[in-house]
Amino acid sequence: MQKLRIAIQKSGRLHDDSIKLLKECGIDINNGVNKLKTEASNFPLEVFFLRDDDIPQYVEDGVADIGIVGENVVLEKNRPFTAIEKLGFGKCRLSIAVAKTADYKGVQDLQGQRIATSYPVIVEKFLRDNNVQADIHEISGSVEIAPGIGLAEAICDLVSSGSTLFMNGLKEVETVLKSEAILIANGALNEEQQVLLRKLQFRIQAVKKAKN
Ligand code: PRP
Ligand code: ZN
Ligand code: MG
Repeated sequence: MQKLRIAIQKSGRLHDDSIKLLKECGIDINNGVNKLKTEASNFPLEVFFLRDDDIPQYVEDGVADIGIVGENVVLEKNRPFTAIEKLGFGKCRLSIAVAKTADYKGVQDLQGQRIATSYPVIVEKFLRDNNVQADIHEISGSVEIAPGIGLAEAICDLVSSGSTLFMNGLKEVETVLKSEAILIANGALNEEQQVLLRKLQFRIQAVKKAKN
């Protein structure tokens, strides 16, 4: 029988709410955080647990049929995904932060500075829009430690509760964009997969409606 393969975040901000959404959709899965994949017992769904930043690539390559990711990740990768649906959780912002002790007055203070980020495309556009020239250092993780180790004066990363910034002696100074979790789908699903996706989307929409 045809199955739909969904990729969700292995651990982190979106993990729990992604599992919760599937449960609210009446889909039974045993969430083994340390497992790579699991299967639903009452819906033809296979669940892959992956790093959030890698999910768009897996969906584009068709390794997974659909995925739950932050809008920001999709904007950064700038790829055409279909069946995009906002999910109403995982709300956060992509922000610039500097050392708590820095004397920051405005975006012009970023001129000539080094900014560490995992989102170089979005940051470049932000700088261009603000007429600022800065040096973007792309790093794939633990961006928040960059100022402390002398790699950069500023960072641009996701902020949700703010505790990551706080724990690293940083303060948020500019909001670049707002983001939330969205559902993305591979553009070339077969007929049966599309039927399953519509079924799932119908349930997601019902869950969302019940919350409003
Ligand atoms: C983001 C970001 C911070 C954290 C911020 O990580 O990189 O690590 O969330 O959240 P806070 O303000 O609540 O502390 P993400 O969920 O993308 O996971 P990843 O770093 O493993 O990709
Ligand atoms: Zn991430
Ligand atoms: Mg992180």
